[in-house]
Amino acid sequence: MPPIQPPAAGRYPAGGLAFPHRDLLGIGQLQTHEILYLLDEAEQWVRLNRMPSKHTDVLSGLTIINAFFENSTRTLLSFEIAGKRLGADVVNMHAAQSSVKKGETLIDTAMTLNAMRADAIVIRHSSSGAVALIAGRVDCPVLNAGDGQHEHPTQALLDALALRHKLREGGREEFNGLRVTICGDILHSRVARSNILSLQALGAVVRVCAPPALMPMGIEAMGVEPFHSFDAALDGAEVVMMLRLQNERMQGQFVPSPREFRHLYGLTPQRLALAEPDAIVMHPGPMNRGVEIDSEVADLAGRSIITDQVEMGVAIRMACLDVLTRRARGVPGWAPVNRAQWV
Ligand code: CP
Repeated sequence: MPPIQPPAAGRYPAGGLAFPHRDLLGIGQLQTHEILYLLDEAEQWVRLNRMPSKHTDVLSGLTIINAFFENSTRTLLSFEIAGKRLGADVVNMHAAQSSVKKGETLIDTAMTLNAMRADAIVIRHSSSGAVALIAGRVDCPVLNAGDGQHEHPTQALLDALALRHKLREGGREEFNGLRVTICGDILHSRVARSNILSLQALGAVVRVCAPPALMPMGIEAMGVEPFHSFDAALDGAEVVMMLRLQNERMQGQFVPSPREFRHLYGLTPQRLALAEPDAIVMHPGPMNRGVEIDSEVADLAGRSIITDQVEMGVAIRMACLDVLTRRARGVPGWAPVNRAQWV
């Protein structure tokens, strides 16, 4: 492989200190330099994932359990691929086929996984805080793959990595002052919450846009500017991140109809024209085409980075699994695997 560019001097500690977190529960727990470190670590895995042979034995002998209590395509598959490409044994537990269906509690399930001596547990759950609850009961690193409306930290990290790649293509190195508009079901979105935290930590200026019923009360306290008019929120936007309606978290009617929602909040080609001329389009998936985003925009070559987001998801999850298991493997936490290539 050609040499990896070194990180800017002093951005994060070098050498033998341990990465200071056992678990990855949310972006809210991370300092900016820790976010940057995970992004930088992921670059080596982006490169590996683009090679014909995508296998290393960095996590050889380790067992990773993906325990998903909610449906997933991208997150589950990319954690599974990430673990396997790093050489770990990966097991998936789907709640629908588990003893959860027989009434086993979350804590008993956690203790069961712990007794099997997993080396890392990845959890998705519909309840905010459920992942932290499990982390408090097990002996290995726990990674949050999305908990209720709370956080989806690896999604925000992969979004930042995909965005950083796109910005660098255009000759821009940093997020400082980058104007990002996040539009859709902000109220129920853990992706919005994690992205607000991560994008602001990296220096971006974040606007959020939603119908009044789907805008969290007091969202200004997160440092974002709220909008109910999508047209106004798009003015000057350099990045537009669309979110789907999270119908599975809604009790009652939050929008009159998907058609009405599209009329006011759907990203159509005409609406995208209100943003900056080269504005970047993002969506964490799954998309509801023709509701929050039109196909002409979702598939717009050179502007939409939706498939890049998916690609970066594997690399970011490889970085998180590698870094968080280093303590148990006796590897210095802040020392990148390929640090030798940097000197
Ligand atoms: N973005 C995301 O979390 O997608 P999945 O629900 O398919 O994992």
